[in-house]
Order: sequence, then structure tokens, then C-alpha cells
Amino acid sequence: MSAVNLQLDENNKLRHFLSIEGLNRDLLLRILDSAESFINITGRSVKKVPALRGRVIANIFFEHSTRTRTTFELAAKRLSADVLNLNISTSATSKGETLLDTLRNLEAMDVDMFVMRHGDSGAAHFLASHANPGVSIINAGDGQHSHPTQAMLDMFTIRSVKGDFTPLRVAIVGDILHSRVARSQIMALNTLGVSEVRVIAPRTLIPSNARESLGVHVYHDMDEGIRNVDVIIMLRLQKERMNGALLPSEHEFFQCYGLTEERLQLADDEVTVMHPGPINRGVEMATAVADGKHSVILQQVTYGIAVRMAILSMAMQPSSAGRES
Ligand code: CP
Repeated sequence: MSAVNLQLDENNKLRHFLSIEGLNRDLLLRILDSAESFINITGRSVKKVPALRGRVIANIFFEHSTRTRTTFELAAKRLSADVLNLNISTSATSKGETLLDTLRNLEAMDVDMFVMRHGDSGAAHFLASHANPGVSIINAGDGQHSHPTQAMLDMFTIRSVKGDFTPLRVAIVGDILHSRVARSQIMALNTLGVSEVRVIAPRTLIPSNARESLGVHVYHDMDEGIRNVDVIIMLRLQKERMNGALLPSEHEFFQCYGLTEERLQLADDEVTVMHPGPINRGVEMATAVADGKHSVILQQVTYGIAVRMAILSMAMQPSSAGRES
């Protein structure tokens, strides 16, 4: 069964959240609207709502993470769920236990939802296709394939700053080839109906058929690509996923594709600068830009909590007690 079919139930409600692929504009907007309703909780002295009280969410991260893991944990706690954080390096997977056996054992502890990051593309889909009825899988990044909650928090940030998606020209710059974030962002931007998505990268860091397969405009010249754009999303070089030398050097990459204050002048006067993190200062962007007035990089992180609260609450299935009644 495809990820598209796995994600939605017969009433088109979220069952798992694996990819932006196959989700329509209406559902993406419902996620953003639901996140809006959770934003105010962040400013309260008691930052909790009872929506998922009594439910159990397990974070299982097979790759390193700062932002995604912690904001998922905060999101689950603000929804009053009980949270398990499996430490993979000290778990039984290091003794050879399979992913499926880990799933079965945690299901036996009545875990309702798994938030998983994994180095293999398709790992979240695999888990979803084997999960028990009533158990949901949320993809927190799988290989080079997909990072859908990152894309949704980026969409939330863009809507918060710009209001309307339709007139926007958005440029995504850097290692498009290895980026699960870029793939998910492009799908979300096109589904939400932006005017134009541009990808800017050296030929070695962009899929050869990007224009047709991703529905984007391709640029290899940074100055040309960012001219008059409303939003610039910078990406990290995914060196851990590169086989062989795809770049002459980081210094040369910064010379050709780094976002500097000088280059920023080519974009729209009100341009918004984003980065999913982690940033490599002086490689993909200058510190003056990362911390400058156009940057919303830390807002992205803050909004990630509300967006993940929305996705957790929308994908949580009725409890077994609720299903029986
Ligand atoms: N953006 C993102 O996925 O960051 P982490 O790797 O820190 O989770």
C-alpha cells in the first residue's frame, strides 16, 4: 500500500503522518489552522491542554536531532500525553533487535503513537504498514525522502509572515539532492499554490530531472535565482549523505551560493530568510544574515511546537476504550 493510502482513513482523516505527498490543500490548511489555535498556549504560565491526557507517545530517533526531537517532546507534553524517549544508543537495537521487534515491544506497553527519525528512506512507511490498528506513526525525517513536520512548520512560518501563499516566489538554496526537507517543502509550497518555487544549487547537488519531477524552476546561478524572491530557504550541506566529492570546498560553495548581506539586496525588500537548522555559519549563510532583520530562523523553531501539537492531535486515533464504546 502506498504512503498516500496509509496516511488517511476512509473519512480522509489523518491516520499516520509520513509525507506531504498525497495530502491536499484543504488538509494542509487545516493543520496550519489547528496550529494557530495552539500558539497562544506558549505564552501562558501553564503551557498545557488536556487533549491527549492518558495517551502515550514514544520518540524513537535513530539519527541525531536537536530541534525536531525536543519540539516533539514539548508538543506531546503540552497536550498532556505521557512521553517515552527511547535512547537508541542504549536500547536493544544496539544488540541487533529489528525495528519491527522494537515496534511490537513498545506496542505491548500500550504506546499509542510513535514519532520516528531514521536514516533509511521509507522507514516510517515501513513502520506504518506494520503498526497495530489504533497506533499512529509520525515521520520525523527518513533518509533523503521526507521531513513533513518540518515542511509544515515552515509553511506556518511563511503564512505568519506573509499572510497569503499565492503571490509568493520562494527560492530554496543548497543541497537539494540530499534534502528530505527540500522535497517536503516543495510539495507543500506547490500544494498551497505559491506563484513560483525556485531551486538554486550547483549541478552536482540537484536531481537531473528536478524541473519535471519536483515542479520547480532550476537555477545554478545564485544571484540570478534569488532576484526579487519573497522567501529564501537556505539548506545545510548534507555531507553525511554525500558519496564522493560533490563540491570543490565549503569555501568555494560559500563564494558561489552563500547568502550574504550583499546578495540579499537582490531579493525583494521585505524578503524573509529561513533555514531548517542546524546552520553552518560561513558555509551556507553569513552570520549577519542568520541573525539579521530578515531572518525568522528561531521563529521557525518556536512555531514547530504548535505545528507538531496540531499534527499529534490530528493523527492520534481514538483510544481502544473509546473504540469499544
Ligand atoms: N530541522 C531539523 O530537523 O533539525 P534537527 O536535526 O535538529 O532535528
